[in-house]
Amino acid sequence: MDLRPEHSSRNKILIINGPNINMLGIREPDIYGRKTYSDLCGFIRDTCASRGLVCELFQSNHEGAIVDRIQAAYGDTELLGIVINPAAYTHTSIAIPDALKAVGIPAVEVHLSDISSREEYRRVSFTSEAAVATFKGYGFDGYRMAVDLLAGGAKPGADKEF
Ligand code: DQA
Repeated sequence: MDLRPEHSSRNKILIINGPNINMLGIREPDIYGRKTYSDLCGFIRDTCASRGLVCELFQSNHEGAIVDRIQAAYGDTELLGIVINPAAYTHTSIAIPDALKAVGIPAVEVHLSDISSREEYRRVSFTSEAAVATFKGYGFDGYRMAVDLLAGGAKPGADKEF
């Protein structure tokens, strides 16, 4: 499944990170590791650059700001897709998946940790139903996998999970 629209010259990926992802390196290092948000941004930029892709990085601690950013992407003719880690909003927000569905841009959900093997309340993801695939538990590498999926280099299983 190549997710790129036909005849596309799209080469931009929008990366959206939700609340507390800016605290990487400080927050719960046993779960999220010691690398910082700035390290994550560098990793994503390098990943995209090495594939000839442009990336736009957005982080917010506010649900409405994330919805606004998704809506602002509507009609962006350079955009290949969205990689989103909604963080805690994964488990609570209906507005974020609604926005993803509204704009109709392919989105891949990423979680640094394996949300299916943590607390019960993390097992539910409302975002999943608006995402073409979910990568969870691969740390930074999940973002690389998501970028490659959007760029046409990987295929999700039937359950959309990796
Ligand atoms: C997270 C998992 C969420 O449950 C948590 O609230 C986060 C980060 C992850 O990347 O593993 O903030 O999305």
